[in-house]
Amino acid sequence: MEELKRIEKTALTRAKKARTSQDVAQLRAEILGKKGALGTAMRSLGDVSPEERPKLGARINEVKSRIEEALDEAVTRIGVAERDSALASGRYDVTLPGRRMYPGAPHALRLIEDEVVRSLTPLGFTVATGPLVEHDWYNFEALNMPQDHPARDMHDTFFVGKNTVLRTHTSNTQIRTMLTRQPPVRVLAPGMVFRKDNLDATHSPVFHQIEGLWIDERATFADLKGVLKTLAIGLFGPEAQIRLRPSFFPFTEPSVEVDVRSPMLKKGLGWLEVLGAGMVHPAVLEYVGYDPEKVQGFAFGTGIERLAMLKYGIDDIRLLYENDLRFANQFASRAGS
Ligand code: PHE
Repeated sequence: MEELKRIEKTALTRAKKARTSQDVAQLRAEILGKKGALGTAMRSLGDVSPEERPKLGARINEVKSRIEEALDEAVTRIGVAERDSALASGRYDVTLPGRRMYPGAPHALRLIEDEVVRSLTPLGFTVATGPLVEHDWYNFEALNMPQDHPARDMHDTFFVGKNTVLRTHTSNTQIRTMLTRQPPVRVLAPGMVFRKDNLDATHSPVFHQIEGLWIDERATFADLKGVLKTLAIGLFGPEAQIRLRPSFFPFTEPSVEVDVRSPMLKKGLGWLEVLGAGMVHPAVLEYVGYDPEKVQGFAFGTGIERLAMLKYGIDDIRLLYENDLRFANQFASRAGS
């Protein structure tokens, strides 16, 4: 008991006097550590008589918790003092400029894709994706372009294998969607497409399209016009107008080329061609196992680069791929607009 009192007294005095965190750590080890003074006292419990043992044990615990408390206090006191002196000695230069944050900006192509999706989801469209490396059947054959079809010439195709291509358009996703779902179908399919073009100001061998497909018992050409108008307004403002011209795609009949004009566009006074569309060809519906007598619908596809270039007045497609921050950051403020 005497010894315990002595240990406590020394420990408390030394805790008060401790000046650094090392002092406290040292003290903790000396008193509370396995080989420390209290540890020795614990071990001596075995030597005292069984009647006295509980009393001594309780006393040891009491002393131990008082010392722990004193050490904790010392740690807090020293922490504050060490910080104050660090500040006073100028180790922190509070005048140093902060580290600047460089927030990311959405890419112009992403903005356009988002705008198309945002414009058309209120009409019930959801987003679907398809593979970039595609079997010939999904990219051509089922889209009513058999092996020897002359329309294949327009698609300068990268062949990966005898019947495997890098998809030349997002229309493969029309086929894949219809094969796995039953009408009504309303999807948007954005993504990369590939054509054997040399890179110049207006061509790139890799670019992006977004495709729309709507199949239902009664999805008409008038519905198509409504969707296209909604899309034009979403992209080019409330005053945007559309104009349809007859065209040809093997997978749509009739087919149209869609022009838009809007005061929002730099070249706003003239009509600009932005989109291909048409009523899905009955042969395509048959390829995917739909009954053309029961369901019909329309599809449209557009190049995202072209839309971005028109909307933002970009005159060289390569700017979209070079990741020059001076270019890329110009679109930061347009996010969500
Ligand atoms: N896939 C066509 C192209 O790449 C665009 C298109 C899609 C046309 C859907 C009509 C319907 O040129």
